[in-house]
Amino acid sequence: MDTPSSSARVCGERPFYDLHAEAYDLIINDPVKPWCDAVDAQLARSSSILDAGCGTGRHAAEMIARGHVVDLADAAPRLLAQAAARCPSARTQLIDICLLPTADHDAVMCRGVLNDMVSDGERAAAIASLARSLRAGGKLFLDVREAEASRERADGEPRTRSGFTSRTTWDNGLLRVRETYAMGGDVVEYQFTMRPWSVGSLTGLLRDNGLRNVSVGGGVGRRTPDRLFVVAF
Ligand SMILES: C[S@@+](CC[C@H](N)C(=O)[O-])C[C@H]1O[C@@H](n2cnc3c(N)ncnc32)[C@H](O)[C@@H]1O
Repeated sequence: MDTPSSSARVCGERPFYDLHAEAYDLIINDPVKPWCDAVDAQLARSSSILDAGCGTGRHAAEMIARGHVVDLADAAPRLLAQAAARCPSARTQLIDICLLPTADHDAVMCRGVLNDMVSDGERAAAIASLARSLRAGGKLFLDVREAEASRERADGEPRTRSGFTSRTTWDNGLLRVRETYAMGGDVVEYQFTMRPWSVGSLTGLLRDNGLRNVSVGGGVGRRTPDRLFVVAF
């Protein structure tokens, strides 16, 4: 893949990532510590980490506080700017994570991002790109939505937090999401599609990209049961 992915283009239009990026941390406020504990426990001290799809840098900041060296990558300028302000020592890249350059990080973490990739081609490009950002033996840490649990949760009911409402329905393997933002005086509606993962397809792609040791468990630091925590090396 050599053109920007469609998920990278969505980063510039989804209100959550752009117009209302300043509200991101109000809406997404699940605890940082459990994820960082789980990743930190598997790394040597002072590891070099790429946070691919870092959002506002909440997890990156905690990993820096634990002594690691973290690079930030995201395709949403306004989220990346918040991450850079939160992590002044970090190198930042405004980049499509499907198009990362070859690198030699000890670890890559990619949390809550790969669900935004809908087509088979984009998903394959994303996993290949993350894998080539690692040194040999480096570890990839993923948080993704699991397909079956996502289907059960996609009941179309409104879920509201801090002026943000989302309604999600299931459509043949895809999550159709309708978001309403009642913030700053205006009401903005936005619709987009996500695609959760099956353990089999994710494991297959990881192995195809040389990450043959794959462990999959329940989500870490998540409030809902539809997430997976995946470690691959
Ligand atoms: C749900 S947020 C998760 C952010 C952060 N990892 C966290 O756990 O809070 C998804 C992030 O992925 C980024 N993203 C989605 N597709 C991307 C792509 N193709 N390239 C780079 N960033 C992408 C978005 O801009 C957003 O910051």
